[in-house]
Amino acid sequence: MEDKEVREDKEVRLQKLMAQAGVASRRKCEDIIAEGRVVVNGEVVSDRGAKVDEDAEILVDGKKIKEEKKYYIMLNKPAGVLTTVSDPHGRPTVMDYAPQLFDMALRVVRLFPVGRLDLDTSGMIFLTNDGEWANSLMHPSFEIVKTYIAIVEGHTSDKALRRLRIGVKLNGRLTAPAEVDGRHRIPRDKMQSFRLERPNSPEEKKGRATSSIRIKIHEGRKRQVRRMCDAVGHPVISLKRVSIGAIRLGNLRVGKWRYLNKEELENLERFLAIHTEKARQAAEAAANVTDTAE
Ligand code: URA
Repeated sequence: MEDKEVREDKEVRLQKLMAQAGVASRRKCEDIIAEGRVVVNGEVVSDRGAKVDEDAEILVDGKKIKEEKKYYIMLNKPAGVLTTVSDPHGRPTVMDYAPQLFDMALRVVRLFPVGRLDLDTSGMIFLTNDGEWANSLMHPSFEIVKTYIAIVEGHTSDKALRRLRIGVKLNGRLTAPAEVDGRHRIPRDKMQSFRLERPNSPEEKKGRATSSIRIKIHEGRKRQVRRMCDAVGHPVISLKRVSIGAIRLGNLRVGKWRYLNKEELENLERFLAIHTEKARQAAEAAANVTDTAE
């Protein structure tokens, strides 16, 4: 029921959408519709009063009329905030920290998060209204490296760090090799950013041995960094994502956002292009092996 209401809310008169996209006046657009020149999501619509979903793909005389401007945003998610568009229990979500953007027709631009961070993880998350871009980035085979800084309990031994590097078994399957750097004792001045996110966190307790681990992984298994650190005997106290590929969080403050710049977007595009080509070559090689075997 609720779903249907949401869908109906998004239905708008076709002539209005066409006029907003600059096709012609509303009256003229009705004529164009009646002439059978309009295709909505692949089907001809010739009813003058037709209502359609405002996100529908609309072609007039075979040409797409509506190309929403795309937005690409980086947010420094605070710990304790959900990576979701809305929460039925009213808890804070990343959308509470996102900008309110409007399109040319003053409709709200629907942003959503790309991928996810755990509730208690802070750091870099992308927001966009570009579904295709988001899907490419989130595809499991898209192995972009993500860098995390974990504050963990105890002083990490070389052996523990080596195990993290080589891979630890999670649910019976080894994690892929990772780049890992560990340091004992975090100087108090370096604790600042973590202290801001987690006031009264356990690491603040006097005399407690802690370490900082910088870990780069390209897999996206559930709570992966936390489970890896647990597996080597160093539970995570605080976790923050500081980069995705070559894109760095830098000094973006917790809870703040900024647009990804041209260079960052091009960098991701290049990565996607190389990756897509690699996937194509792998599929071709696999098809050749099958052919030879037959
Ligand atoms: N690894 C985790 O354990 N949590 C995250 O949020 C991201 C990676």
